[in-house]
Amino acid sequence: PSPALTDSFGRKHDYLRISLTEKCNLRCTYCMPETGNPNLLPPSHLLTTPEIERVARMFVRQGVRKIRLTGGEPTVRKDLVDVVERLGRLPLTSLGMTSNGVALPRKLPSLVSAGLTHLNLSLDTLDPLKYELMTRRRGFERVIECLEMAEEMEGLDVKLNVVVIRGLNDMEVPQFVEMTKDKKITVRFIEYMPFEDNRWSTTKLVPSASLLSTLTALHPTLTHVPTHKSDTTRHYAVPGWKGKFGFISSMTDHFCGGCSRLRVGADGGMKVCLFGPPVLSLRPLLRAPSPSSSAESDSDAHIIPHIARAVWGKKFAHDGLGGAEGIKEKGRMGA
Ligand code: GTP
Ligand code: 5AD
Ligand code: SF4
Repeated sequence: PSPALTDSFGRKHDYLRISLTEKCNLRCTYCMPETGNPNLLPPSHLLTTPEIERVARMFVRQGVRKIRLTGGEPTVRKDLVDVVERLGRLPLTSLGMTSNGVALPRKLPSLVSAGLTHLNLSLDTLDPLKYELMTRRRGFERVIECLEMAEEMEGLDVKLNVVVIRGLNDMEVPQFVEMTKDKKITVRFIEYMPFEDNRWSTTKLVPSASLLSTLTALHPTLTHVPTHKSDTTRHYAVPGWKGKFGFISSMTDHFCGGCSRLRVGADGGMKVCLFGPPVLSLRPLLRAPSPSSSAESDSDAHIIPHIARAVWGKKFAHDGLGGAEGIKEKGRMGA
């Protein structure tokens, strides 16, 4: 990455997460309140598809090589396939999407043809009734359909994201690990993080270390699989099994030191950390009239210094468990 995407701690950012919408077709208890869609954007504040493409291109010119589309739920966006087609033409090593999978089965083949290489599916339980309880919606069968379809697709890397909540789904962890025996997928257990109105409490947090000791007792041969330092996940595998599993320990063992991620919200707000507020609004910069003679890349040139300043201001680490109350005030998952 160029100096513009390097922060004051020398971290180089080659991974951009773009949120396509704040809307979601589920209401997971750990993410959103039951009713109302908090802080919905006026439509004019949403980046258009050409604007998203322009933002992506601009970051790619500065050295971004991985892009992940997120939400809300990215499939809620009507022109999702068009977005993937446009970004699919950029020189990326991976183009991923994080989705709950409920509305995905029909669209998945066209997304993969358009260039989608990585799919992270959110699924917190293998029990259909509990699924309805946790998401406040129906959709379990469609997610399973999506998982089975995705797993069969050539060239698509598939991960399952499981947010672990004590007393609710922690007892299912061994069953999720069993899935990696025959499925070439990665199951990731995520520590429950606090966001505004999301019912978080320390007692509901299951530290990854305790899951690991339970799993080691069940599978004494399991081994650590080393990965890149910018990876959010610490991976393990049972030798001989097709898939692997891992832990995203945002709360007990943050991985900020290796962070390579930047985020652009659905409204063009750029964040340098999941837990921080937007530090730059790209929307007015993108929409400012540019001299008719200048090519797009010239008009982007005035935006880069703003991005560079935002990246330079990135803090070393988020507040972690000690600062949970602080984190709580800063909003929900997004991008
Ligand atoms: P991969 O590229 O497949 O590794 O994706 P990812 O893990 O970066 O993204 P995904 O959208 O699947 O997010 C899974 C979980 O990772 C989220 O629930 C967060 O807990 C965590 N996560 C993603 N990015 C960050 C980050 O920048 N900081 C922290 N603390 N957690 C993050
Ligand atoms: N804690 C941990 N992970 C969360 N996610 C959403 N809310 C939380 C939370 N409070 C997860 C989703 C999805 C990923 C992008 O973030 O389950 O897989
Ligand atoms: Fe939707 Fe994801 Fe939040 Fe669940 S966690 S309500 S799927 S945005």
